Amino acid sequence: MHIYINDTKFDVNENDTIIQVADRNDIHIPRFCYHKRLSIVASCRMCLVDIENVKYPQPACSTIVKEGMRVNTNNRSAEEAQKNTMEFLLINHPLDCPVCDQAGECELQDVSLEHGDYKSAYKELKRTVIDKNIGELVSTEMTRCIHCSRCVRFGEEVAGIKELGMTGRGEDTKIETFINEGLSSQLSGNVIDLCPVGALNNSLYKYSARTWDLKQMSSISSNDCLGSNIFYHTYNDEIKRCVPKEDEEINLSWLSDNDRFGYEGIKSEERILHPLIRHNENLEKTDFNSISEKFIEYLEKYSSGSCAIMSAQSSCEEMFLFQDLLRNKNVKKIDHRSKECDFRYQKNYPIIPSFDIKLVDIQSLDNIIIVGANISKEFPILSIYFRDAHKNNSTNIFSLSTYEFEENFPLKKSAILNSQELENYFTNSNNESGINLEKSKKNLILIGPAVSYLSNYSNILNNFSEYAKSINANLALLGDQANTSGAWAMGILPHRLPGGCFY
Ligand code: SF4
Ligand code: FES
Repeated sequence: MHIYINDTKFDVNENDTIIQVADRNDIHIPRFCYHKRLSIVASCRMCLVDIENVKYPQPACSTIVKEGMRVNTNNRSAEEAQKNTMEFLLINHPLDCPVCDQAGECELQDVSLEHGDYKSAYKELKRTVIDKNIGELVSTEMTRCIHCSRCVRFGEEVAGIKELGMTGRGEDTKIETFINEGLSSQLSGNVIDLCPVGALNNSLYKYSARTWDLKQMSSISSNDCLGSNIFYHTYNDEIKRCVPKEDEEINLSWLSDNDRFGYEGIKSEERILHPLIRHNENLEKTDFNSISEKFIEYLEKYSSGSCAIMSAQSSCEEMFLFQDLLRNKNVKKIDHRSKECDFRYQKNYPIIPSFDIKLVDIQSLDNIIIVGANISKEFPILSIYFRDAHKNNSTNIFSLSTYEFEENFPLKKSAILNSQELENYFTNSNNESGINLEKSKKNLILIGPAVSYLSNYSNILNNFSEYAKSINANLALLGDQANTSGAWAMGILPHRLPGGCFY
C-alpha cells in the first residue's frame, strides 16, 4: 500500500495514520495533542493537512491512510488551516516567553513562529487561571495551558494514576488535580517533558538557567538497575537538570522521578566531598596524594587480615581495578553486598544475576510472578511495561511479598507472606495458592532485591528456581544497586574472580 505526501510516494502499513508516515519520513507536520506514546484525541487541530478530493483539511494524527491517498502538508489550504488554528490557540495564551522557563524549547513558540501569523483578530481580555500547588517537583503556570491533554492522558495511560484531569468546559476548562492533592506517581516528572508549553515546569530547575545556555551530556541513570538512558544538562559545569534520552529498549520516552531528580543528591552536604583520614577518633580532611600514600602503606602493613567493600554503583572498570589491586596485595575478602546475610549456596549462583529477558519482550508474556518487589515504587519504568502487558496482552500478574503495597497495574492475585511461607510457597503440597501456571505458556518469575536480605534467601532462591524450571519460566533477578550485575561479573565477591571464575 502507498500514499503520496507532498507529491512523494511512500510505502505505508494498513493502519498507519498520516502523521506516523510523515514522522517516519522526516516530513514536518505541526502538532500539540499528538504524542506517539499516548492515545489519539485529535483535539488541538494543529495538524490539519489537505487531502485531495476531501472538502476540508483533516487532522493528520487521526486520519488513517488509504491506498493512493494524496496528502499535502504545506499547500495554501493546509497552511491557512494551520495558521487559523494557531490564532485560536493563542487567544488565551499569555505570550510571556521572556519570563517563561520553556522559552527556547517550547513547541508552541516554535510552531507559532513557523505556522502562525504576526497579528491576531482577537482584541478582548485574555483569561487567567489561578495556580494550584500540585507538589514539590512540578510547578504550574496554568494560564499558559493550551488544553492539549497530554498530561491527563499520561496519568491515565502510562503512569496508571489519574492525578491530573480536565475540569470545566469551554472558556472555563482547567487542568487540575481532582482532590486538591499533589502528584504522587513515581513517574510524575514526565508531564514536564510532555507539556508543549510552559504550564508544567520542573520546580527544581526553574529559573536557574536558560535552555540555550545548557550543555548536554548523555549518561546512564544510577538509581536502579534498569539503566535508563538520560541526558544531564549542565551550566557552568553544574548539573541543572536531567531529562530522558529516548531508548526504545529501556526507558522509551520516560524517566522515573528518582532518575530525573536524583542528581540533587550530588550537591548534598551529607556527601563526602574530600578524602578523610581517621586520626584516633576523628576524621580529618586530607588530599588525594596523601590518602593514596596512606592507603598503600596500610595495605602493605595489614593486607592479610583485611577485607574490602565496594559499592555496586561503581563502573565495571573501577570494580575490576579495585579487586585487581587488592587481590595482588593478598586482600581476598572483597564484597559489594551490604545487606545480605545468607550466603550458604552462593557458589551455585549464576555468574551474573541477570534479568533473563528483554524489557520489550515482557509485552508477550502470559504470566508474571513478582516476588518481594513493589515495582511501581522501586522500578517505575518496569511498571510501564507491566501495565502495557496487562492492557495489550491480558498478562496475568501475581505478587508475593513480605509487606503490603499498591501497584499501578492490576494484580490477578497477591499474598503477604512471612519469609518461611515464601520459601515454601510452591513446595507445600497443601498450598492453596491458586497460582497454577502452565508449562506451555510464557512465564516469568521476577525476584526483587528485598528477598536477598532475608535470612533464608538461599532456600527461597533455590525453591523458586526449581519452580521456574518446572513451568519453563524465565527467572529474573533485580539488583538493589545500579551495577549489581557488574559487581558479580567483575569479581567483587569473596568467592569469585572476574568473569565468574572460582577462587
Ligand atoms: S498542562 Fe500542558 S500538557 Fe497539560 S493540557 Fe495544558 S498544555 Fe497540555
Ligand atoms: S495533533 Fe492532530 S489534532 Fe492535535
